[in-house]
Amino acid sequence: MIEHTGISLREEHKQAILENAPMCSSMELLVDNYLESFSPSMDMFSSLACKYEMSFHCLEMNLGGCDDLALPYLKNLKKYCDEIDPYLISDHLSFCRMSGHEHFDLVPIKYTERELIRIAERIDQVQNLLKRPIGLENISRYVAYNEQDMSEIQFLKNLQRMTSCEVLLDVNNLLVSAFNLDEDLDLVLEDLNGLRVKQIHMAGHTSYHDCKIDHHGSMVSLEVLTLFGKVLDVVGRVPSIIEWDQNIPTLEELLNAAQALESYLISAEPRKLENEEAIKIQSKPPLMSEETATNNPEYSLFKSAIVNSKERAKIYPYLKPELRLKHEKGIEIYFRNYIMTAVDNLSTLFERTYLQLGKENFQYFVREYVLSQYESFTELKSLEHGFPSFLEQREELQSTPWIAFLASVELLWNNCDLSSSEGYCFELGFDLMSLWKNPETEISEIDGLHRQFYLGPDENREQVMIVEK
Ligand SMILES: [Fe+2]
Repeated sequence: MIEHTGISLREEHKQAILENAPMCSSMELLVDNYLESFSPSMDMFSSLACKYEMSFHCLEMNLGGCDDLALPYLKNLKKYCDEIDPYLISDHLSFCRMSGHEHFDLVPIKYTERELIRIAERIDQVQNLLKRPIGLENISRYVAYNEQDMSEIQFLKNLQRMTSCEVLLDVNNLLVSAFNLDEDLDLVLEDLNGLRVKQIHMAGHTSYHDCKIDHHGSMVSLEVLTLFGKVLDVVGRVPSIIEWDQNIPTLEELLNAAQALESYLISAEPRKLENEEAIKIQSKPPLMSEETATNNPEYSLFKSAIVNSKERAKIYPYLKPELRLKHEKGIEIYFRNYIMTAVDNLSTLFERTYLQLGKENFQYFVREYVLSQYESFTELKSLEHGFPSFLEQREELQSTPWIAFLASVELLWNNCDLSSSEGYCFELGFDLMSLWKNPETEISEIDGLHRQFYLGPDENREQVMIVEK
């Protein structure tokens, strides 16, 4: 039995976990993925909660952002928390959205006195709404601001003092940020004294040129494991979770990775500051979001700086230039992550188009698409709508028009609403059904035979179907 380590649930393992209940202590859920359908999600959550300590992890709270907090989202989260009562619900000390535009990434905030007051106020609001403390996670950072009054860990300690929030310490993120931004890991470890840590994240990272990128796609490295041991010496034994989002391993491999942490945890002292009451101080009155946005101009510059190379120079005066990862390179990492997120998202939604185009071509077109239209992408889901017509207009695809048609059909398929849609009838000049069943089928030309298709609900409105009429 793995007593102190848990895993973060991924769709690929869900069935096996529900059926076989592998022996580990806790299960972290990316709860944002389940918020749309309360009853089926709750059935799954409840059966997991019988066997595991449950924690919820979120990406959408936007705690460091300047936009108003998303109250409908938070109220929805509360329903899940009330039902399951997870031992921790966490999100990141960062912002992911600005003026309604998502960054597809976790962007660092400035660690200043002013930001401390503003963010403590937001945390207070969230905790009051959820009626429970939330956990704040340190992120992987690729740039640092010139304006800074304290370190990230000191900022977290102050937040803890002001709001009684919990901390989720990601050891891999500590190492990645320290390496990229010339932070001294011994000083980081010293800073951890007095930090009350409720949960630890462990994950793999990758090297990219001369920096490290947090990608959650490999084994935890030896240097992160070594740092883990040193972190436990300071904070004591803390329930730890393995995160693995890319190149998903088998469940057995994942559990082996969790098992590898156990020896560190078993030999650690019990958790420090377990029962210490946080001293809650009165936060100052909230600052209006418009005012804070004007006071954080660099936050507003971030998205165009990431995606539009001509705009990049505008953010440089706000960033430290000469770290190991120079500020231009740091912004490029956010750009890389932005594209990778877009590719991940679109390759899932346009699975058949992806297979027909092949990985490299698909990545190329997504990159071009994002570069040409990024201003219209307010959120990840807005990416999909313009993609088929973008492909249709591409010069390179004029001789293979079925690729854009296939993407259009996939868009209809993804958005067909069983309850209200009457379905779609359309005509195409190629054998769509063969391509639909085997997307790697090679098509050499539109054969000119006109075929009629129907895409829409089946008779019982139970599932979407596509047929040649
Ligand atoms: Fe993490």
